[in-house]
Amino acid sequence: MSSKLWGGRFTKSAEEWVDEFGASISFDQELVQEDIQGSLAHVTMLKQCGILPEEDADQIISGLKSLQGKAEKGELTFKVEMEDIHLNLESMLINEIGPVGGKLHTGRSRNDQVATDLHLYMRNQTNVILQLIHDLQEAILGQAKKNVETLIPGYTHLQRAQPISFAHHLMAYFWMLERDKERFSESYKRINISPLGAGALAGTTFPIDRALSAELLGFEGIYENSLDAVSDRDFAIEFMSNSATMMMHLSRFSEEIILWSSQEFQFVELDDAFSTGSSIMPQKKNPDMAELIRGKTGRVYGNLTGLLTVLKGLPLAYNKDMQEDKEGVFDTVKTIVGSLKIFAGMISTMKVKKDIMEKATRNDFSNATELADYLAAKGMPFRKAHEVVGKLVLHCVQNGCYLVDLSIEQFQEASELFDHDIFDALDPYEAVKRRNSAGGTGFAQVQLAIEKAEKLVNK
Ligand code: ARG
Repeated sequence: MSSKLWGGRFTKSAEEWVDEFGASISFDQELVQEDIQGSLAHVTMLKQCGILPEEDADQIISGLKSLQGKAEKGELTFKVEMEDIHLNLESMLINEIGPVGGKLHTGRSRNDQVATDLHLYMRNQTNVILQLIHDLQEAILGQAKKNVETLIPGYTHLQRAQPISFAHHLMAYFWMLERDKERFSESYKRINISPLGAGALAGTTFPIDRALSAELLGFEGIYENSLDAVSDRDFAIEFMSNSATMMMHLSRFSEEIILWSSQEFQFVELDDAFSTGSSIMPQKKNPDMAELIRGKTGRVYGNLTGLLTVLKGLPLAYNKDMQEDKEGVFDTVKTIVGSLKIFAGMISTMKVKKDIMEKATRNDFSNATELADYLAAKGMPFRKAHEVVGKLVLHCVQNGCYLVDLSIEQFQEASELFDHDIFDALDPYEAVKRRNSAGGTGFAQVQLAIEKAEKLVNK
């Protein structure tokens, strides 16, 4: 006979190492509070539906509450022999209140139980993550507000392209994060739905009230199909996919911060609190946190791919393979929570070296488009203007100078349309200011975008 809660039909126990291999308690203890919360709703429903006598249900409720208190204080000791969080808690309940504790599992299976736990967990974490994205957006806004008129080269192909406002560059990330928030919020409605009462796969013979247990848990509704309820992990995949996209954004931002803080760029200096030194090279100040976030993006992608692969081709309904869903989910949560927190701190304490940024916009050809636009505005077909300016740039490159160094005569030799005001047009500050089309880098547009963004984060 096996000592397991499910040991009735077994004649011998598994070897210890087999138990260990099958157990999930080492990681699913993360769900302790959610599991107790789900059980409390289940037993309350059993009581109200008259499935369990009131005194039995009340004893179970007080036993579960006592376990809840102990869990909060970290006083529960889990056992590998008890396999997972569900069986550990059930056996603790029985130890606490006696055999009546064995009535808790009436009309329920671990299959709908674990799915319920995961829904509750993802719901809590989604709220935490939405708040953390919001905090990072505020940090970005804080820097943006201070840098509306700070000029920086804008790049394409990592080659200087056109000067832009640094705030405009930062705000690009604000809007990416806004979409991330939208994605997490949209997924919420598929997380916030109850599988409880689906039983092992087919529902139950007991006259349960699924809507009631769903309501007690704050779920918006119930799964329509019991097989789907216990075997669906779409909501976890969606969460990890949203996380992967968000980490992709953070990795791009990290990469820029790493470049900007290099000796070659020197556009920003990270606060000491978010940098580390080298054990051998005394001069080093490394952007470790940004690098680590860029690196951790890999594991978040991996967790998503892992779960998609686990679920591929699984027949209905529950299969033990699905126990593999949890570690990736927990790791994703831990990784994105940490990354978001670090990022907010790193951005808000980052020193922006305005002078160096601005100097960079002057020592290059990123004002060449201004010249072409100047000629086009005076009636020259843009394609032709492009060619005229291209030749002027070539001349400068060959003679080691920039466009502002050319004389009015040299400009007029290239085209009669050039006049003295050409030198204003070449000024990067003017170039940025004039790009006032909707969503462009013009200071007025950036200001508008910041105001819009502030309304969004404060609503
Ligand atoms: N530990 C299991 C999991 O995480 C719980 C569900 C087990 N159900 C079962 N029929 N073995 O998926």
